Amino acid sequence: MVKRWMAHILFLLFVTGIECIPRKFPSDFKFGVGTSAYQIEGAWTEDHKSESIWEHYIHSNPKVIADGSNADVACDSYHKYEEDVEMLKNLGVDHYRFSISWPRILPNGTANHVNQNGVQYYRNLIKLLKKNKIEPMVTLYHWDLPQVLQEQGGFASEKLVKWFTDYARLCFKLFGKDVKTWITFNEPKQICLFGYGLGVFAPALNKSGELDYLCAYNLLKAHAEAWHIYNNEFRPHQKGRISMVVEFSWHEPLLPDVPAFEEAAISNLEFMAGIYVNPLYRGDWPEIVKAKVAHNSRKEGKDRSRLPEFSTEEINQIKGTCDFLAVNFYTSFLVYPSVTPQPEMYSARDAGVSSYQPWYWEEAKSVWLKVTPWGFKRLLKYLKDTYDNPEIIITENGISDGGELDDDLRISYMQQHLNAILEAIWEYGVNVSGYTVWSLMDSFEWLDGYQSRFGLYHVDFSDPRRQRTMKASARYYKDIIKNRSLDKTSGYLTCSLE
Ligand SMILES: *[C@@H]1O[C@H](CO)[C@@H](O)[C@H](O)[C@H]1NC(C)=O
Ligand SMILES: *[C@@H]1O[C@H](CO)[C@@H](O)[C@H](O)[C@H]1NC(C)=O
Ligand SMILES: *[C@@H]1O[C@H](CO)[C@@H](O)[C@H](O)[C@H]1NC(C)=O
Ligand SMILES: *[C@@H]1O[C@H](CO)[C@@H](O)[C@H](O)[C@H]1NC(C)=O
Repeated sequence: MVKRWMAHILFLLFVTGIECIPRKFPSDFKFGVGTSAYQIEGAWTEDHKSESIWEHYIHSNPKVIADGSNADVACDSYHKYEEDVEMLKNLGVDHYRFSISWPRILPNGTANHVNQNGVQYYRNLIKLLKKNKIEPMVTLYHWDLPQVLQEQGGFASEKLVKWFTDYARLCFKLFGKDVKTWITFNEPKQICLFGYGLGVFAPALNKSGELDYLCAYNLLKAHAEAWHIYNNEFRPHQKGRISMVVEFSWHEPLLPDVPAFEEAAISNLEFMAGIYVNPLYRGDWPEIVKAKVAHNSRKEGKDRSRLPEFSTEEINQIKGTCDFLAVNFYTSFLVYPSVTPQPEMYSARDAGVSSYQPWYWEEAKSVWLKVTPWGFKRLLKYLKDTYDNPEIIITENGISDGGELDDDLRISYMQQHLNAILEAIWEYGVNVSGYTVWSLMDSFEWLDGYQSRFGLYHVDFSDPRRQRTMKASARYYKDIIKNRSLDKTSGYLTCSLE
């Protein structure tokens, strides 16, 4: 909370035209780091775990991964979780965001057979975290669907709702005594658009404009149902919170203040992220998405929209199933109206926009990631205004490089993005209550394999022991967490004449 004297100073400076931002985070602000099961655990067949869609995809198409690698061993966290917790302790984090592997808990996909070895692994991990006063923030689904369920349709099937909610209920029952923050799905855009629309992520289906929308429809219903199960059966005694993680990029109009460009930017925000978040707050797809898909479907001679329609009952069921807004942020795009956007990307065609990142924006190792902290600040303001000032937890933010131990690029990225959060909090009153660095350690970065490294800790993937080494950024983050402040000045103001 802003101290009274600080408010006085801020006011004085405001009337004199000098803008000052406290360098301190609110006293209850939480710092954490994140990982996901498939990217770190390895042990892919051990103790009766079954195959996930990513294992199936990569084993049958090794060429899709840039360095021909896979995550069969990854960081070997299935065996090295005690070391992982030591690293978390050393950083001094408040929370650890990790995910549960569905095929490790339910090898048959369905709840008819629970794999006790898998359950024990997460019990051990959670117990050790609690012992060290680190709050577990648990994602139920971080992209690793059991392959047996994919063979019955995966997210394109209505049955997903039952499969997922049975799995979710089991996890609430097994771990809910110690887990107070749950995430249903991580990044629906990547699941649906990349997995069912563009065919670049598992299960590599490529019917954009139809399957990606169907996937979103089933995913949102599964999320809502899981939220209600938690709300009715578990929240009364477990007293936790549950939400869905959405990746937001910032979409900046290429020509600001030109209405057609402003509309293009909003349209892209709604098609890429609002399509998943608007239902959680208002029960239905964003109006602009409904209108544009319906319009295009009519032009194609279809008798109904390619976008599935929520019934009134579904709208009432989905609306309000979001205890906090969980946001992943990495980068921004410049957007302009266009009638011929990326042809393979139907939902971009429906949005009627194209986007790009100028060459002169600072680059990460990942081609899609350019450094744009200004976009982060604008996004936070937009989220406050669009979703009625929700509590926001940043569930991922980070940058990839080649794995250097002196990772100045990562330090500078973190500094700039934490600064954007401070400015959003103190200038705009955005309610950001937590920040999560992606990632605790270098891990299997999907199509990039081990070439793009996001870790605060380096992992030696040529060493059978998967030796972990602290990077400079880990020492930097540790200092920030300890100081609860961004600079040496620890709690003073920095001022600039506006
Ligand atoms: C479920 O998995 C167990 C262990 O892998 C197997 O023995 C059993 O046949 C499976 N049950 C069904 C219904 O698939
Ligand atoms: C879409 O998938 C089909 C079947 O897997 C494949 O033949 C086709 O080349 C893919 N198209 C694109 C644009 O990737
Ligand atoms: C942020 O939101 C939470 C949950 O609604 C609320 O308890 C808290 O008071 C809010 N904080 C601020 C600074 O508005
Ligand atoms: C944290 O505070 C200490 C002592 O006040 C200071 O030396 C250090 O630079 C600070 N670290 C960061 C990252 O702000």
